Parts: sequence; C-alpha cells; structure tokens
Amino acid sequence: MSFLKKAFYIGLQRVSRDRLARVPEPSSSIEDQAVIEGNLRDGLEGSLALVYGLISAILDSYDLGSPKKVLDVGTGTGVLLSKIAGLFPEAQFVGIDISPTMLEVARRVTRDRGNVELILCNLYDLGERFAGEKFDLITWALGLHHMPDEEMAKRAISVLLELLSPNGYLFIFDIRRPKTRAIAEFIAHTFNSNWGPAYRQDALNSYLAGFSYGEVEGVLKALQLPAYIHKEPIIANIFQYILLPPAARRPRELRRKSQAHYKGPLWFDYLVLRLGFGL
Ligand SMILES: C[S@@+](CC[C@H](N)C(=O)[O-])C[C@H]1O[C@@H](n2cnc3c(N)ncnc32)[C@H](O)[C@@H]1O
Repeated sequence: MSFLKKAFYIGLQRVSRDRLARVPEPSSSIEDQAVIEGNLRDGLEGSLALVYGLISAILDSYDLGSPKKVLDVGTGTGVLLSKIAGLFPEAQFVGIDISPTMLEVARRVTRDRGNVELILCNLYDLGERFAGEKFDLITWALGLHHMPDEEMAKRAISVLLELLSPNGYLFIFDIRRPKTRAIAEFIAHTFNSNWGPAYRQDALNSYLAGFSYGEVEGVLKALQLPAYIHKEPIIANIFQYILLPPAARRPRELRRKSQAHYKGPLWFDYLVLRLGFGL
C-alpha cells in the first residue's frame, strides 16, 4: 500500500503543473534545538541520510578533478560535509554556517576529521572573509531555499562564483518545490515524521520554500552564465541540482562505492532518487 501511495505521488509530481506558491522560510538561521536534533538524527539514520547518499552519488558521477580546497556553504550538522570529505580525502575542507548552534553540532560530528575547519560566517560575507582565497570545489546543499527571494539567490550564487578557482566547480543541490500542497504534505508525513513535530514542520516549511525548477532556471539565466548543468529528475522527486561549469560524467566503473553513498533500510526510495537523476 505504501509503495502504491509513493508511486501515486511520484506520478502526480511528474504530471502536475507548478500550482504551489512559494512561501519563504520564516527564518534563515536554524537555531531551534528540536529541529537541529531532528536534522542530525534524520541525517544519520533517516530519510535525510539517503538524500546525502544521493548528493554523494551525484558528486561522484562527475569528473571534478582532484580538488585541494573545498568550501561547504551552510554546512549545518556537518554530516554531509563528513561524507563529502570521505569522497575527497586529499582535500582541505572549510564548512561555514550562520548558526552557532548548528556549528557546535558540526564540530562534534567532524571532530575525527583532521582536514575540516568550521567557521561562523554569513554566506553574503564570504567574499570579505576569504578575500584573496579560492576554492576548487564549492558545495551548497539544501541552502538555496533559505534565500528570501530570487534576487538574493542571484546575489548568493554571484558571491560563490567569485570564490571559485579558475578550474573550480560550484555544486548546488536543493529542494525543487513540490508541485502541489498535497505532495509536500505527503512527503513531510512519510519521510520526516520520526523526529518530532517541530522537525516535521521545519521540513514542510523547507519544501514550501524550495524554488521551482523554472524559478531557478530564471535565476541562472539572469546571471548570464555561459554554461551549466541544471537537472530536474526524470522519475519525479523533489530535488534539483546545478553544476557549474559543466563537467563530464565519470565512467561507471570508476565511480566509488564509498561509505558516503547510502546503504540503509530506505534502499527502495534511494533507488528511485538515483534513477530519477540517471545515476
Ligand atoms: C537545511 S540546512 C542544510 C545543512 C546542510 N548543508 C545539509 O545538507 O544538511 C541549511 C543551513 O544553512 C544555514 N544558513 C541559512 N542561511 C545562511 C546564510 N545566509 N549564510 C550561511 N549559512 C546559512 C542554516 O543555518 C542551516 O544550517
């Protein structure tokens, strides 16, 4: 039954028109202890863990060279940063976040990794904070939807592009707003209910704050970028990603099956997400 329900909502997301108006997040910084705890547990053992697996699998599917310096923007609990660090063991990582409470958790989560530095910083201030420094890879996961509007999203992407080294890559992964309210509520209910009502509500708020594929496309066009990859899943889900500039896909046999990829009980949902992005 649950499988049929999921299949129904996948189909609905695929065929519906974008009918849900965007509702920006009530606050950009995440400070609520219950939400942070939910975020951490979901990222370690829940549905967020499989989203992290998907992000790792996407990154792993592209030939991004051998980045030496990586910046993770809006790093949150550090669970994803830890996984990305597993994909690029040779690199030095900097994780930044605007929330001191999140960074405290991230310090605990990444404490055994000698190559991770965590800094309290607003992403709009990154230019000043890292004046003269460049990064080979910048990752920004589940953060774009925290931008109040498209103008600020444009500003944020411009800030990050300024920090890229000449051969560097910017990877942005975020929610693609569900097309109807019923889809958003079904996903929050099915995947985000295990860690308390505050976390469930926060997840729903995030879905409603996601930019639609068309809105992100508009932001990228307005930035007049020469080339980029911007992907919406073929088998519908509620995520999208941007890779800039475009990179070639790595042959399948060279892709890692590292611990960064998801291996857990939600393997079916993970498979659907992977297939959705052609992985
Ligand atoms: C939904 S969490 C995602 C965290 C992490 N990237 C992940 O995938 O789990 C978004 C994070 O972005 C941070 N954030 C929001 N606005 C920010 C800003 N302007 N500058 C830096 N961090 C910001 C929040 O504090 C929060 O930790």
